[in-house]
Amino acid sequence: MNQLSVQHLLGIKHLNASDIDLIFKTADHFKEVINRPIKKVPSLRDITIANLFFENSTRTKLSFELAEKRLSADVINFSASGSSVSKGETLIDTANNILSMKVDLIVMRHPHVGACDFLSKNVDARIINAGDGTHEHPTQALLDSYSIREKLGQVKGKNVVIVGDILHSRVALSNIYALQLQGANVKVCGPKSLIPKYIESLGVQVESNLKKALEWCDVANMLRVQNERMDINYFPSTREYTQLFGVNKDLLDSLSEKIVIMHPGPINRGVEITSDVADSDQSIILNQVENGVAVRMAVIYLLAQQIER
Ligand code: CP
Repeated sequence: MNQLSVQHLLGIKHLNASDIDLIFKTADHFKEVINRPIKKVPSLRDITIANLFFENSTRTKLSFELAEKRLSADVINFSASGSSVSKGETLIDTANNILSMKVDLIVMRHPHVGACDFLSKNVDARIINAGDGTHEHPTQALLDSYSIREKLGQVKGKNVVIVGDILHSRVALSNIYALQLQGANVKVCGPKSLIPKYIESLGVQVESNLKKALEWCDVANMLRVQNERMDINYFPSTREYTQLFGVNKDLLDSLSEKIVIMHPGPINRGVEITSDVADSDQSIILNQVENGVAVRMAVIYLLAQQIER
């Protein structure tokens, strides 16, 4: 099969294992392309893509834009700040105005859960979710699994612990779906107040002791505490959080096996992870960023194949 089972990438929840396999095989090809002296292919010369970012982003926004340009698509960028959204324009009106400029595909980050799903049902374009509130961030989870596959040979059978603010994390939910689809074992670890009550219904175990979680895992995916999504205090102090759930070099070196350290970024150095861990040879944080371009090229390319031209 060389076609995705979906018309939009709204979440990992809607994908199957064959979709992920196809995305990774396609990304392998594009990873080879972006390491050539000429890093560009003409595949999407006839496609126009709009990047709609209603929330801040560094990695995702730049990675999508680069992926689109490496595929030779025409690209337009929209940021909510400085746009007519502040004058009361609705999401559908904004999107339809952009689409009337003959756009084929929309990449959107939005603070509200379900915004991409809503857009996919109301406008005539393919939609890629670049993060919707606390819900899903599918391309982040794909690039995370792709990076595990690259580092450890396969995802199947690996033990992965996701550490930190699970409650507010779209990265956590998308990773849980993606890792389980590929046959990995997933645990979460963090303050009880930042672990959603439904988490065990997803087949995920909770480990409250960080040292035990790290001894169990092959890979630790360290998440940032998302203060911008919190309207109450979920733990007494940042210092206490770091003491209980932060990874430093002494802790890493005390483990009986060498584990892989991941982080989706942005990192709060010294809070969830110290600099010497983030920059250690066990960290694949910058490999994740590099792989993001190839994985996003694959997703865009595969969805664009379904567009009638
Ligand atoms: N990982 C991630 O989504 O980073 P940005 O918020 O910088 O896009």
